[in-house]
Amino acid sequence: NVIFDDSNTASIKVAEEIATLIRKKQKADKTCVLGLATGSSPIRVYEELVRMHKEEGLSFSNVVTFNLDEYLPMEKDNRQSYWYFMHEHLFNHIDIPKENVHIPDGTITGDQVLEYCLAYEKRIREFGGLDFQLLGIGRTGHIGFNEPGSHYNSGTRVITLDHITRVDAAPSFLGIDHVPRKAITMGIATVRSAKRIVLLGWGQNKAEIIKKTVEGEISSHVPATYLQQHKNCTFVLDTGAGSELT
Ligand code: F6R
Repeated sequence: NVIFDDSNTASIKVAEEIATLIRKKQKADKTCVLGLATGSSPIRVYEELVRMHKEEGLSFSNVVTFNLDEYLPMEKDNRQSYWYFMHEHLFNHIDIPKENVHIPDGTITGDQVLEYCLAYEKRIREFGGLDFQLLGIGRTGHIGFNEPGSHYNSGTRVITLDHITRVDAAPSFLGIDHVPRKAITMGIATVRSAKRIVLLGWGQNKAEIIKKTVEGEISSHVPATYLQQHKNCTFVLDTGAGSELT
């Protein structure tokens, strides 16, 4: 784990790692497959990637992305959607081909769901798997929307959001009653399959869950603890989020 004085410096470092990977793949004429997160944690990383695109000519023409999750039900053009978030913070400002962007579809229903989830997994595999997965962490210990109880071997699926997660999302939905109860999320196994994982944690209010995740017993009660077994996973924290680590 790496603890930085502030999340700004840390975010720039993470953006640099991603840019280096993109350029390396470009030189080898290969696609770079990125797993991406939404929420407040990665915003500064995306801002820096956009800056690198505009000022340093970093191209995303060989990049394929898969987002972790989306609320259910959720329309793309709803301002609360992760589709909207990703376009606003990243995709609208870079040269990634539209067809390379994958975000779980928050409008799927009923008997389409299983097929859709399997197809999402298949598509990741078809591109050779995730080269890099960016993660945030929820106060429940969720990664993606893999809430407590999520299985180690879970794949992309529909889940029920934890109450704490809905409380945390309430302000942006102007009240908990408007927060969807479900979401579609990549699974723990999907995330674990990434060749490289970087989890971002900022601020004192993440300190307790970061401690449990890093120092606690591996258990489905804190799904992020599964990351302890990943060979190439780094927790990038600021002093607030790292403050309870021994
Ligand atoms: C979002 C996601 C979630 C968030 C987590 C932390 O795509 O997968 O796991 O990363 O809820 O959210 P923030 O960064 O807003 O604290």
